[in-house]
Amino acid sequence: MADGKKYVELHWAEKYDKYEKGEKLPIEKPNLPFQVVETVNKPRLKDLEGGLFDPDKFYPESKYPENYPKDWKNLLIWGDNKLVMSSLIKQGWAGKINLIYIDPPFFTGADFTIRTKIGDERIEKEPSIIEERAYKDTWSGGIASYLKYMYERLVLMKELLAENGSIYVHLDWHVGHYVKVMMDEIFGYENFRNELVWRYRRWPAPSRDFQKMHDVILRYTKIKKYTWNQLYEPKAESTLKAFGDVRLTTEITERGTIKKVRTSETSKGTNMSDVWEIPMIQGSASYEREITSNYDTQKPEALLKRIILASSNPGDIVADFFCGSGTTLSVAEKLGRRWLGSDLSKFAIQVTRKRLLDIHNSKDLMEDKK
Ligand SMILES: C[S@@+](CC[C@H](N)C(=O)[O-])C[C@H]1O[C@@H](n2cnc3c(N)ncnc32)[C@H](O)[C@@H]1O
Repeated sequence: MADGKKYVELHWAEKYDKYEKGEKLPIEKPNLPFQVVETVNKPRLKDLEGGLFDPDKFYPESKYPENYPKDWKNLLIWGDNKLVMSSLIKQGWAGKINLIYIDPPFFTGADFTIRTKIGDERIEKEPSIIEERAYKDTWSGGIASYLKYMYERLVLMKELLAENGSIYVHLDWHVGHYVKVMMDEIFGYENFRNELVWRYRRWPAPSRDFQKMHDVILRYTKIKKYTWNQLYEPKAESTLKAFGDVRLTTEITERGTIKKVRTSETSKGTNMSDVWEIPMIQGSASYEREITSNYDTQKPEALLKRIILASSNPGDIVADFFCGSGTTLSVAEKLGRRWLGSDLSKFAIQVTRKRLLDIHNSKDLMEDKK
């Protein structure tokens, strides 16, 4: 555990081959200079022409958040995120990132082949030599090598996280259970905040099991004092029927029981729960797919919108070290956050670059209006 008391610990092959059991594993931290390929000084979202963005929720050019330094440049870095993060730490970024969201490979064995669509033609982009080598190096030792890969990266992420920071790790049934135990060890069991369930619908697969229709997102914070903006969801029909749409408070009765009391204010809904039903991005013709040439593992902007609104404030720094098609960075930009993204795949970097450069033409199709 983070405080030195180890109650439970995940072991994998070779974890302690070179070290004493229980010893803190040292993580190498090379410092590689970043080579600047391009600096873009383009305006961000256009002002609200055509009413594409809701002025209360999005930040067009003329409405920079107050704590957004004028000389700040967002960063999109091509490379293995282990090297990217260790170099960032060496270059003074430790403790600077307010929110990290990652959607790493799930150990499905298919994460490095990119399926995409150009016109009507569906193509499969074979992995580049770098991607292929990374794939072989990374998974050659099976699940143990996956766990080592995640452990090293999560330790670096903790170092980059600000004191008020939160980290969200998006996984599914393949390895979610292992990574949760690992995160307890790295971040501390007491800093676990939520296991979010993202429930979606898709065509049922023929199977003699219950249909697998959810991912999990593990949420941890660095310490117990963290950035939190309450989000709401609509009240249940039964609550509306019983109490109407007013804000409810609780009162202790004379007998010591808790009673719900109506106030005169209208309610904002009920505090959001940890089960999120958000549709997958619909069809290859949908706007979100179009801007990324149908990037295979792309997540809906609506999902990232909740995470970024709940755990960061305008002007904060949001990072995604497995940025893929750039969903996190796009939503961060729309919500007035600063951002930093990296990916090993050149294709992912190209897709993200284009998505961010075109953002001023973007539509607010983050269906989720909470
Ligand atoms: C599941 S996808 C992320 C999808 C993204 N959330 C989106 O909405 O588009 C995982 C990404 O991690 C990248 N990746 C895998 N290993 C990496 C590494 N060691 N360093 C940087 N990126 C890596 C892959 O190239 C891939 O783009």
